[in-house]
Amino acid sequence: MKGLILSGGKGTRLYPITFNRAKQLVPVANKPVLFRVIEAIKAAGIDEIGIVVGDTGEEIRHAVGQGKRWDVEITYIPQDAPLGLAHAVKISRDFLGDERFVMFLGDNVIEGGISGLIRQFADSDWNGQVVLTEVDQPQHYGVAELDQERRIKRLVEKPRHPQSNLALVGIYMFDQHIFDAVNAIQPSWRGELEITDAIQWLVDNGYLVHPYIHRGWWIDTGKPIDMLDANNRVLAELTHYSNGYVDRASKIDHLVTVEAGAEIINSVIRGPAIIGADSRIVNSYVGPFTSIYHDTHIEDSEIEHSIVLDHSRIVGVPHRIEDSIIGREVEIGYSSIKPKAYKMTLGDHSKVGLL
Ligand code: TTP
Repeated sequence: MKGLILSGGKGTRLYPITFNRAKQLVPVANKPVLFRVIEAIKAAGIDEIGIVVGDTGEEIRHAVGQGKRWDVEITYIPQDAPLGLAHAVKISRDFLGDERFVMFLGDNVIEGGISGLIRQFADSDWNGQVVLTEVDQPQHYGVAELDQERRIKRLVEKPRHPQSNLALVGIYMFDQHIFDAVNAIQPSWRGELEITDAIQWLVDNGYLVHPYIHRGWWIDTGKPIDMLDANNRVLAELTHYSNGYVDRASKIDHLVTVEAGAEIINSVIRGPAIIGADSRIVNSYVGPFTSIYHDTHIEDSEIEHSIVLDHSRIVGVPHRIEDSIIGREVEIGYSSIKPKAYKMTLGDHSKVGLL
């Protein structure tokens, strides 16, 4: 089997974090989501992986390279515009050939591996397999309706009146018949070739698409709140370790990871949390569910349930920062310069919540 990861798209819902960056490279518990996807596919025994890339292709190539780090072989497949998940399949025909493949959205995080279900598909005579999970608000997802025998009857993209609470998780498995499907369908009202329409075509034409129901958690990191949620889940599951320096005045618990070169000075860190390589935490409090990426400096401040990216500085902030995603090279600090006012230089699409 081969692997296909979709890493194009625009990532508009994560602006400004993804304004000029790939959303698949935003770290969750200090590791880009895309790296977690590659690891999941490799763990299932797949070594040949195609990555569909769009405007942020250069950045993705730079971060992933040829795949040596994971002992896989990466092929990049450029997509001129985000014309839909089925369009991404269509342009990957040469790479995929007639082999069965697993397609994984590059911004999805799922509990546990996918090795079991990939093996199950590899050994089956099914033409496809979709991963479904129960959700509270199915109207926001692609939804599957099953018949009495629990076979797929209908797939609907974001239905106004959902007939089931089973949403499509961003993991799909197909054989070569999917190419007939993606060539037969037309773009939807939003101008995209929809993967739901392609799967519906398979079902309507008598091909066997098996619904696998996933019981663990699954997060599509489309919006900032989903990013924080994924960060919580992964931090809670990590095996924590400390390779950095923690001075005697500091307190950290066993659910805290301190990466190499990081320094914790006169501070309290409550886990689950992770402090990235070469970051410094001085006279500060870092609370549960916080990921501080590498080369960041936090001093005389408090932060909890947040993600801070690399090379940022948070110094002397008078109130605790919570529920926040802070980008790269951001500076947040106390200013004593009169007049007493908020002084901000914010980029396009920034969001700030003030007390
Ligand atoms: P989406 O989250 O549906 O789209 P998006 O990334 O453009 O985000 P937003 O809605 O916030 O603007 O995409 C899911 C994944 O699939 C994501 O990793 C990007 C990828 N993708 C492609 O590679 N090609 C495409 O044509 C589309 C639509 C998505």
